[in-house]
Amino acid sequence: MMHTEGMLKEGALKGKTIIVTGGGTGLGKSMGLYFLKLGANLVITSRKLDVLQGTAREMEKETGGTVLAVSCDVREIDQVESLFDQAEAAFGKVDGVLNNAAGNFISPTERLSTNAFNTVIDIVLKGSANVTMTAGKRWIQNKQKGTFLNIVTTYAWTGSGYVVPSAAAKAGVLAMTRSLAVEWAKYNIRSNAIAPGPFPTEGAWSRLLPGDLVKKFDPAKKVPVGRVGEHQELANLAAYLMSDYSSYVNGEVITIDGGEWLQGAGEFNNLEAIPQEMWDMLEASRGKKP
Ligand code: HXC
Ligand code: NAP
Repeated sequence: MMHTEGMLKEGALKGKTIIVTGGGTGLGKSMGLYFLKLGANLVITSRKLDVLQGTAREMEKETGGTVLAVSCDVREIDQVESLFDQAEAAFGKVDGVLNNAAGNFISPTERLSTNAFNTVIDIVLKGSANVTMTAGKRWIQNKQKGTFLNIVTTYAWTGSGYVVPSAAAKAGVLAMTRSLAVEWAKYNIRSNAIAPGPFPTEGAWSRLLPGDLVKKFDPAKKVPVGRVGEHQELANLAAYLMSDYSSYVNGEVITIDGGEWLQGAGEFNNLEAIPQEMWDMLEASRGKKP
């Protein structure tokens, strides 16, 4: 068994139609591909139709499954409504939504324009809300069960300098996840979140570690298990939370970061830097025999 292998049973998502926002690239593409391999009907969406169509063709070739590519800016409610209309026309109904689309960049907060701040909030928080409200209203109206899975980050609860709009927006998405997990459970709608640590993608790396920063701040060095994440590891978790195997998991956020955020949080974790010889000396000074 390898951590890079698919984990769920064949057909675990058979018959389910799942919309993945930001599904043409990066983590959304990897999670969507695994949903497809598990038998789901997949709808991928983002702003760039050419990218989506290329990804859809690639995925269909690899799996023999069906992928619908729909361009939609999640900030525009009319486009979100049209996305759901197209998904329902193609597959009859939508069963799951993966809110994965995001916008982010690094900057000292005092250098951000109002529009820069608003742009990230509009995509991440309001965009996820647009998609969630549209799906939820339709599911409730049609008395149909549904599953939300929202991709946040660990700084949704710690906060983080230099990505303040993203931190504020992801915190909002996490609050929405937990709130709706309770409010909409009566309609058979579950809401969960995943907080990934560093998983290499072109979109994130080019914006968060531009230029030489990637050499100076190797993300793997901040992770106790000593490496960054593999996309399949995230896809396994996402598929489980999207599937009926997780029917009793509701309102949870699952961290998948190799221990990264706790490393920064634990008061004495930096004692890792103390060499064994120094621990020997400290023991000796307490009178312990070697
Ligand atoms: C400061 C910036 C900026 C930057 C853009 N802006 N980039 N400000 N530093 N690096 C400002 C612009 O000057 C403008 O303000 C405003 O933001 C909007 O910029 P546009 O380019 O017009 O916006 P738009 O075309 O809508 O593009 C949105 C975007 C872009 C967020 C700026 O980067 C994008 O399309 N991103 C999508 C993919 C993405 O970000 N992926 C990474 C997700 S990674 P003014 O005032 O000039 O008009 C992630 C990881 C989290 O979330 C955790 C990691 C561990
Ligand atoms: P990515 O490839 O850049 O993914 C972001 C996606 O969002 C893109 O496909 C983009 O497509 C789409 N998007 C952006 N603005 C949109 C809009 N207005 N409407 C619709 N779609 C939009 O980066 P990623 O690393 O895979 O990130 C995926 C998710 O994981 C994000 O939620 C991110 O915050 C989260 N995450 C990533 C990491 C990591 O280490 N990679 C860690 C923690 C959390 P278009 O440009 O075509 O619109």
